[in-house]
Amino acid sequence: MDRSNVIDGKAFAARLRETVARQVAALKAGHGLTPGLAVVLVGEDPASQVYVRNKGKATVEAGLNSFEHKLPAETDQETLLALVRQLNDDPAVHGILVQLPLPDHVSEAAVLDAIDPDKDVDGFHVVNAGRLATGGQALVPCTPRGCLMMLKDRLGELKGLRALVLGRSNIVGKPMAQLLLGEHCTVTIAHSRTKDLAGECRRADILIAAVGRPRMVPGDWIAPGATVIDVGINRIPDDRPGAPEGKMRLVGDVDFESAAKVAGAITPVPGGVGPMTIACLLANTVTAACQQAGIEEPAG
Ligand code: GUN
Repeated sequence: MDRSNVIDGKAFAARLRETVARQVAALKAGHGLTPGLAVVLVGEDPASQVYVRNKGKATVEAGLNSFEHKLPAETDQETLLALVRQLNDDPAVHGILVQLPLPDHVSEAAVLDAIDPDKDVDGFHVVNAGRLATGGQALVPCTPRGCLMMLKDRLGELKGLRALVLGRSNIVGKPMAQLLLGEHCTVTIAHSRTKDLAGECRRADILIAAVGRPRMVPGDWIAPGATVIDVGINRIPDDRPGAPEGKMRLVGDVDFESAAKVAGAITPVPGGVGPMTIACLLANTVTAACQQAGIEEPAG
């Protein structure tokens, strides 16, 4: 199959990390400013440990300061809130990320709410959600920010295009829709209760799938030439011929094989949106550091 319509998220993310590294070098040389990212991990969830390790590595590689705080699973909410307040007050820390999920005895809402919105590099705080919705200077959640970068890289101008966002989560669907509105797209948000989901998808020039349902969108829901961004990361049994018994594989929310035959451009899973998330976290930390210092973000 001709793969020229497949967007290489890994290569894109590597380029973005290089841009961030150049921005950091310019901030150090020009302003004596080294952006710092603090990551807080509570407990020993293996997937979270991997994420946090990868984030720390990417942060250091791009020249930022990395501060890791690993707390035991039984840490109480007050202790965690005290740490967040300490990081809010620390001038060397420009971005704070508290790794989710948190243990059940801790309120995620209370912890996220305690993060200084100007250091909220996840963009999860209600103040940043509000700023994004009202066209203010927001820190934008990493995954939608990465999706928008890939769309603009591929399509250039997005003005007037019909965009369908499948999924309405606070982390992806809603901020994605706001970003596309900001680019003057005509935006529809669809979800599991949408009538004629297939028809809605077929009208879209841009389709963002973020529902967490493996291979839910088949190729015949996609308009010929449409740009498809698949945010889903679903682990399913590997049913391909020759795969060993019990092996699992990652698939997106879009059925890649059939969709890639009709889409003008499409992100694969793995290797599409996923690698962009950490790169955008670094980019958000640079943005936050510049805003806090009152200086313009270097071009990179
Ligand atoms: N857990 C998995 N992904 C993320 C993320 O992007 N941010 C936070 N805070 N926790 C996560």
